[in-house]
Amino acid sequence: MDKKQQLKLKQLEEKGYMIPTSSMIKSEKDIIKIRKAAKVNSGLLDYIGENICAGMSTAQIDKMAVEYTHEHGGVCADYQYEDYPKSICTSINDVVCHGIPNDDDILCEGDIINIDATTMVDGYYADASRMYMIGEVSQKARRLVEVTKECLYKGIEAIIPYQSKVGDIGKAIEKYALKNGYSVVKEFCGHGIGYDLHEDPYVYHYDPKIDTVVLVPGMLITIEPMINEGKADVCLEEGDDWTVYTLDGSLSAQWEHTLLIKEDGVEIISR
Ligand code: MF3
Ligand code: CO
Ligand code: CO
Repeated sequence: MDKKQQLKLKQLEEKGYMIPTSSMIKSEKDIIKIRKAAKVNSGLLDYIGENICAGMSTAQIDKMAVEYTHEHGGVCADYQYEDYPKSICTSINDVVCHGIPNDDDILCEGDIINIDATTMVDGYYADASRMYMIGEVSQKARRLVEVTKECLYKGIEAIIPYQSKVGDIGKAIEKYALKNGYSVVKEFCGHGIGYDLHEDPYVYHYDPKIDTVVLVPGMLITIEPMINEGKADVCLEEGDDWTVYTLDGSLSAQWEHTLLIKEDGVEIISR
């Protein structure tokens, strides 16, 4: 952090703002490396988009992810993260997140699926997820997928460097989701990223109604709203301890980007 930014943070603190800790602010050198990880990660999500189709198993997508990532000098960071058994997350229809790739989940025409990938290159991390629609999907599924993407962008647009707080992101997302008749999953949030997959701060996707840190240049965070068609409640698959479903069986969607806060705004580095 340069002197100028240190002074700005001090002034914000004096005004009563909660300021980020030093590990939440990355150096230019760090940012170059995180960009590299983000590039491989988004290349992977593009590659999956070119190949995903009905009849494919989620295990096949996992295999594609491992091969692509290794060929591009990265590592799939989800693998063995807190004992997670696979390399990406594949969450179909009413699965909210952390769906585990396997041979028995075969994609069908009309399915919506979130693929969430985290890539580590040279010790630095980037994380993003997208929704994929398999063949012709219903109007209501398409609308959920589109509105959820808009929720992510509402969150991104709420970021004003040195001015907005992390809680403003969630406030914007929640407002937009509710306006569209959907609900926001509260059990999972976005996060700081860079030196590790999950770092502080917590990035809420709803109004946390508590004070949160101000967003300043050099911070890298993810925003990754999980939006349900029906109620917000979720449940965990007891058999595998990972897969999260909507409790009412309604559809769920999610989009995620890794974002870099800069002096003049925000950059989506996982595009
Ligand atoms: N990519 C996820 C995130 O957005 C993390 C997945 S953790 C896993 O934070 F272990 F389930 F893969
Ligand atoms: Co992710
Ligand atoms: Co994430």
